[in-house]
Amino acid sequence: MTSATATHQSISPDTQKALEFSRTYKEEQLKEVVEFLRIPSVSTLPDRAVDVAAAAKWLALQMDRSGLENVQVIQTKGHPLVYGDWLHAGPDSPTVLVYGHYDVQPPDPLDLWNSPPFKPSIHDDYIYARGASDDKGQLYVHIKSVESYLKSAGRLPVNVKFIIEGEEEIGGKSLEAFVPENTQLLAADTVVVSDTHIAGRDQPSIVYALRGMCYVFLDVAGPARDLHSGSYGGAINNPLNALGHIIARLKDEEGHILIPGFYEQVRILTREERHLIAKSGHDESAWLADTGAPKAWGEPEFTLLERIGARPTLDVNGLIGGYTDSGAKTILPSKAHAKISMRLVPDQDPGDIFAKFQDYVRSCAPDTVKVECTYFHGAQPCIIDRKLPEMQAAAMAYERVFGKQPIYMREGGSIPVISLFQQYLGLQTVLMGFGLADDHIHSPNERMYLPNFYRGIETVIHYLDILGSSADATLSGEDR
Ligand code: BES
Ligand code: MN
Ligand code: MN
Repeated sequence: MTSATATHQSISPDTQKALEFSRTYKEEQLKEVVEFLRIPSVSTLPDRAVDVAAAAKWLALQMDRSGLENVQVIQTKGHPLVYGDWLHAGPDSPTVLVYGHYDVQPPDPLDLWNSPPFKPSIHDDYIYARGASDDKGQLYVHIKSVESYLKSAGRLPVNVKFIIEGEEEIGGKSLEAFVPENTQLLAADTVVVSDTHIAGRDQPSIVYALRGMCYVFLDVAGPARDLHSGSYGGAINNPLNALGHIIARLKDEEGHILIPGFYEQVRILTREERHLIAKSGHDESAWLADTGAPKAWGEPEFTLLERIGARPTLDVNGLIGGYTDSGAKTILPSKAHAKISMRLVPDQDPGDIFAKFQDYVRSCAPDTVKVECTYFHGAQPCIIDRKLPEMQAAAMAYERVFGKQPIYMREGGSIPVISLFQQYLGLQTVLMGFGLADDHIHSPNERMYLPNFYRGIETVIHYLDILGSSADATLSGEDR
């Protein structure tokens, strides 16, 4: 343990006040989250751009009301960013950069929701709505923690900066362009993000690795128009069949990816890390039951958690082509399309993987069709040092509120900006999640467990306290 744990067991009077404030205003906090969740800020749908902008504006107003300063909605080529700060803790105090995203995934299929996705409803301690857990609910935790300090003690134990984006769910370019151009504005000592889940309601966890992404479109073109499948079938190659053949050659039946060199950069798991992953106490049968799939699947030489957190993937996300309306139509379609995502692990690089994908697909494609690969978006994978002093501070904060030490997990999802903070600001991120694995993010009936929304606020209050009081010992100077 670092000096953070050794020397600062006591809770400061300001922190006491902040905790009391946060407990007093639970109802208001919830009301605000409900308002936030009512705004359908679906970043991928052009028709929702107005709502995305409204969410940014609403958020900025709430940040301002919560006591943050210099709050601005920053226009970009895409959806706006929201910035705010409070920088009066003094030059010796660390600066914490808080990141989150206010955009959400599309809510469809709508008929599978038990209540409308943008009319939040509360049942059995859960709030149900698109974005409840990913990421509006989790992001709001930070705003209310800061408010709790500012409205009770009148100050924060650390300096804070918030940068919130509206394009996370679409791998957007706006924040990617903003970070390198605004390194002064975003300069900080550490980053904290709540956009992951913990192992169980009462079992906190810190995510120390996220997968990266290489998303590609694969387009196959055959004849110039749809052709009669009787007059031409057997004599002209069918782009849908050809696409099927190409896809079948990308992976074997056990899930190994067949692209030459695909695994070249994959960091080999150490025995120590495999052990750490194994002892997380993951309930595989509950996990499987929640998915509804008949059986788990994947590379047999890796455990389930290793497959999700430490191994790369290749998945077809969507197939487009041919006749899909009711009844039958006898054609050879002119075109076929696939959307394919590859989740990457350290030290794979999305550009390198795309090149390998493209070379291999070209080598598999017959000359009877035209095949085109397009790089749609990507993200670097990330891994964070578990011995980082901020990790220890986060562990201590979780323990104070949940009464349990957090476990350390790798996660399969991606948060593209984390590697940019590493690359351009030289900052490590603590992924301090408050969601749960069965929150149904990106699925119908997304939800957040409300007791952990409130515990989240308290955990962040403690985290800022610990960071502030251990400034001299761990967060500034030689350690960093
Ligand atoms: N919050 C998720 C990332 C996540 C998912 C972390 C599950 C931990 C567990 C994030 O909002 C997300 O969905 N990211 C996208 C990024 C992609 C579009 C580049 C993802 O992972 O698909
Ligand atoms: Mn998210
Ligand atoms: Mn998401």
